[in-house]
Amino acid sequence: MQRILITGANRGIGFELARQYVAAGDALVFAGCRTPERAEALQDLAGQAADRLVILQLDVNDAQSIAAATERIAASAGALDILVNNAGINPRGAHQSSHMGSLSADDVSEIITTNAVAALIVTQACRSLLNAGDNPRVVMISSGMGSMQRTRGDSYAYRMSKAAMNMAARVLAFDAAMAGITTVTVNPGWVRTDMGGADAVLEPEESGSGLLALIGGLTEADKGKFYQYDGSELPW
Ligand SMILES: NC(=O)c1ccc[n+]([C@@H]2O[C@H](COP(=O)([O-])OP(=O)(O)OC[C@H]3O[C@@H](n4cnc5c(N)ncnc54)[C@H](OP(=O)(O)O)[C@@H]3O)[C@@H](O)[C@H]2O)c1
Repeated sequence: MQRILITGANRGIGFELARQYVAAGDALVFAGCRTPERAEALQDLAGQAADRLVILQLDVNDAQSIAAATERIAASAGALDILVNNAGINPRGAHQSSHMGSLSADDVSEIITTNAVAALIVTQACRSLLNAGDNPRVVMISSGMGSMQRTRGDSYAYRMSKAAMNMAARVLAFDAAMAGITTVTVNPGWVRTDMGGADAVLEPEESGSGLLALIGGLTEADKGKFYQYDGSELPW
């Protein structure tokens, strides 16, 4: 059984990944979410496959929550084969992180902290679990909006946060302290979720199945790469 931790697994892409891994039948999924008591979709899934899904309280911005979650994984599984850093925020509309003239340092910082800093800190907390894993992989769920080459003049904080996440993935990939752990960064595509919105071009099922295939095929030769959900490579 593959042992997998997914952050932000109560809805959107994170939930879809949890659902598909549970359906595949050969995984023990640790589904991180901020408020398990309100994670109805995960609770339903756990009701169908209690032996393959563990719902974990995990706020990626809270050091105590991260420590408690990793202790629980250590006690019940002893290792992790896959960490998916999926939790993220991207406030919509005229938010004070997006547009020149209305930027606020607090709002910009909150997005960078949640999307980039937290993914790095969660990865650090999982390092010994990953060291004990089989073909251990860290997957950063990034965005094409983090690509330098594809940048347009909007969404300052979100673009900065995903560019920082991409750099974290590159450093993790080549850090001797992370030897043996394959880290990649991945764009899930434009997906119909709360964040992606109704106009998005992909259903979560399509993005999720692409991501599962991609993650399943990762080896050390892939470390430090920036992938699209369908397995093609993206420009930095
Ligand atoms: N949808 C797209 O088109 C798209 C495109 C490119 C990249 N992405 C990336 O894909 C990832 C998932 O996006 P999505 O579309 O599924 O978004 P979503 O539907 O808005 O879901 C975001 C998830 O992140 C969780 N989260 C936010 N802050 C958290 C925190 N501090 N601790 C733990 N969990 C937290 C949310 O939990 P709560 O329910 O508690 O808020 C929720 O489970 C994000 O990293 C996003 O940037 C999405």
